[in-house]
Amino acid sequence: MAEYLVAGGRPLHGCLTIQGAKNAALPLLAAALLPPESRIARCPRLRDTEAAAAILRSLGCRVRREGDSVLVDARPAGGWEISEGWMREMRSSIIFLGAILTRFGRARVSYPGGCELGPRPIDLHLMALRRLGAVIREDHGTLECTVPGGRLSGAEVVLPFPSVGATQNTLIAAALAAGRTVLRGGAREPEIDDLAAFLNAAGARIRRESGGEFVIDGVEALHPVEHRVIPDRIAAVTYLCCCAAAGGEIELWDCLPDQFAAALPCLEAAGCRLRRYQDALRLTAPERLSAMGWIKTLPYPGFPTDAQAPVMAVAAIGSGTTVFTETIFESRFRHAAELARMGADIRTEGRVAIVTGVPALHGAPVVSTDLRGGAALVVAALAAAGESRIGGISHIERGYEELDHCLQALGADITRSEPYEKEEKDRARPAEGDAAEKKAPPPGPQPALLPDVHRHRGGGGADPLADGVL
Ligand code: UD1
Repeated sequence: MAEYLVAGGRPLHGCLTIQGAKNAALPLLAAALLPPESRIARCPRLRDTEAAAAILRSLGCRVRREGDSVLVDARPAGGWEISEGWMREMRSSIIFLGAILTRFGRARVSYPGGCELGPRPIDLHLMALRRLGAVIREDHGTLECTVPGGRLSGAEVVLPFPSVGATQNTLIAAALAAGRTVLRGGAREPEIDDLAAFLNAAGARIRRESGGEFVIDGVEALHPVEHRVIPDRIAAVTYLCCCAAAGGEIELWDCLPDQFAAALPCLEAAGCRLRRYQDALRLTAPERLSAMGWIKTLPYPGFPTDAQAPVMAVAAIGSGTTVFTETIFESRFRHAAELARMGADIRTEGRVAIVTGVPALHGAPVVSTDLRGGAALVVAALAAAGESRIGGISHIERGYEELDHCLQALGADITRSEPYEKEEKDRARPAEGDAAEKKAPPPGPQPALLPDVHRHRGGGGADPLADGVL
């Protein structure tokens, strides 16, 4: 299994173009089952987007990549079942349920797979779909779903907690339901707005009222659509954390700082200097990091739970105590034990972690236990004295596009133990033709803001690879 080898202690310098948002791209790919054709630009090349494309193919869609875009032709689709393998591979495969039910009036899926962040029930997804008229029978881990009459019906749906996934499933299902749906208590994450924008561009009629509720007037059919995925706000925060911890000065391009504004005061409290532009942001790391006070994860626009782990790695270095309260997931501190192997002083109890900064971390062999926890280990390893070996990077590659190449471009000493191509061949794949194309991106044009730096990841352009390869 591939690992990252990191020699820490090198400050970062340069500019980085931020990838498209994984958490926006995944629901878009699920929703792409509904318009006849979709072109999804800035779709990141990730294990999870590969998995979503493979699910679409397993349902009969034609999916191919062209430059930074993924093209989905949903016209030939006929399947209404997602195999247990895919349901286990990616928890967010449950987002396909609303789309399959809408398209085919029936669906068979299993419960999404085992969990790394504590229990992740899907009761809110099922409640919302039932409100829209789905009949769902749970039978030994399989969900047998039908829509009497073949078409869902608009209804009032009230979510007691603003679940991101349940909101997405509801929007997708309501877009083509008969009549009006009013969704109260839905999530407000930027990825939700991106999904609504995609569906509206395909002819749906979704709007959010000033009170926050969604009003969705169901339409008869959607038309072909082109859409560009929003930049990944969590990847942006992660790279900022890398620089804060390792030192130096970096600039993020094509990011929307307003969408991760809640994380910025923490980095400023740590001593980082930030300069914001409309779609770019520069961070200058301090000589020595300070504590960040109390950080509590909350639904958007609060501090994102996905940023908790990378920010914790920053809090582990420097002076003073930072307290984290995790309110979204029950078990999201597994990275703390791995950070402790690198010398971090972190005590956890239930949903609270108390981090006492130490003057320096040291390199160590560590293992990623989940996507963002793995990113935290990279942040720490970049700052640590000596070498670190980070295992379990398949978790990291679920959400970060060529993290190693991006950091190398900023001057980090990080290598992946296996070439990407070998990994792809070795990996047993549930479906044919989904190998990720991994390329060393060429340096692009010089940036506008920082002198003497290079930009990582050039623009799109036609992909030389054959059709069918994502
Ligand atoms: C999405 C993101 C994930 C992020 C999370 C919270 C994707 C692919 N993933 O996950 O990165 O960390 O939002 O911002 O977009 N819950 C229930 N019942 C349900 C659904 C959720 O109790 O039916 C609970 C969950 O157990 C969890 C909380 O609600 O404790 C938040 O979950 P949710 O907002 O649904 O997160 P995801 O959509 O799974």
